[in-house]
Amino acid sequence: MLDEKTKEIVKSTIPFLQDKGTEITGIFYQNMFKAHPELLNIFNQNNQREGTQSKALANTVLAAAMNIDDLSALKPHVIQIGYKHRALQVKPEHYPIVGHHLIEAIGIVLGDTATDEIIDAWTAAYGEIAQVFIDAEKEMYKEEAWHDFKPFTVISVEKPVDGFVKIGLQSDFGIGKVIPGEYITVRIKKDGETYFSNRHYSIYAADETKNQVHIAIRKENKGIISNYLTQEVKPGDEICLSAPAGDFCLAENSQTNVLISSGIGMTPILPMAKASQEQGKKTIWIQNYRQLADNIFEKEVAPLRDKVEIITNETSTAGRINAEKLKNWLDFSEPMAFYLCGRPEFTIGVKNALIEAGASEADIYYEVFDAPKMATIFD
Ligand code: HEM
Repeated sequence: MLDEKTKEIVKSTIPFLQDKGTEITGIFYQNMFKAHPELLNIFNQNNQREGTQSKALANTVLAAAMNIDDLSALKPHVIQIGYKHRALQVKPEHYPIVGHHLIEAIGIVLGDTATDEIIDAWTAAYGEIAQVFIDAEKEMYKEEAWHDFKPFTVISVEKPVDGFVKIGLQSDFGIGKVIPGEYITVRIKKDGETYFSNRHYSIYAADETKNQVHIAIRKENKGIISNYLTQEVKPGDEICLSAPAGDFCLAENSQTNVLISSGIGMTPILPMAKASQEQGKKTIWIQNYRQLADNIFEKEVAPLRDKVEIITNETSTAGRINAEKLKNWLDFSEPMAFYLCGRPEFTIGVKNALIEAGASEADIYYEVFDAPKMATIFD
């Protein structure tokens, strides 16, 4: 437990952190990778280059400092980040390394004003915050369907629409139960690369009896894994995956589930829509596309059309989803749970429109692609 004085010192540094948070984490990453280059095997190099990861960590440290009196307020963030950490196999022994370099960076940026008192207070506070993550992740590791990254064989590669790829993968070991909405993490080391690259992809279908998972990928012009999966992968290739993870799943007590996806954000929403109607829940799926031709799941959605109410919105002709459209489509006097998946700008826009239309924030769940960027927008 932290004493009152330590908490006060930590809280007194919040204005400074707000101002210099990104600078601190920038220095932190640079020094940490110099001392521990092996950690480049788990950190996404694109996120480092774009600075999104450093902002995400800065925001989380700040949120923790603001909540130092009651760290339980961080729980939803800890769960979401904890699953990402587990998917990348972040372990308790990594936390002191991060702590050492983070406190060192705070000291460098504070310069002459870095008193022993401030450094000691932050060292104690980091220990407390790290323990919250370690404890949550310990429970998550107990539920992990398999440990570490294990090989899967590529069984199918399909390109339904230009710029998108669907890949089927099969293991020779039991994959356990896959929960609709979960993602898996792909780890690859390309010839000529020194370190592994990792990337999370939502599962759009799974067959546990055959140990198969299916993922969909949108082509991007960057990223080792995205390039490999959209351009080079072929049946018979071997790809290593860590166990399915994530907390984006159907709420147990909801009677009406409203699923709202944009583009490739359909990937986790598809199995959730299927599961929702199988559970006998009223299921409404609002599908947003830049253009309707971007629907890569027509084949999979077709059997759901008479069981799920599907509403489509094509932004190129009808504009974005807003509160007015939502009020026309949905009855806000009815209790509903909302599940959003798309890029950060889409997710934030729809979340705000739902609240404007009458939804309660507590009923809105979301999974964001580009999550580190999300952390920089939401806080
Ligand atoms: C209390 C300490 C920590 C905090 C507050 C923290 C916070 C965060 C946050 C906010 C994210 C972004 C989550 C997202 O993508 O949704 C993240 C991701 C990540 N964290 Fe942590 N983290 C901590 C400790 C660690 C440790 C000890 C490691 C391992 C050395 C680690 C490795 C990663 C990696 C690899 C990612 C994925 C982002 C990427 O690949 O660039 N974190 N963490």
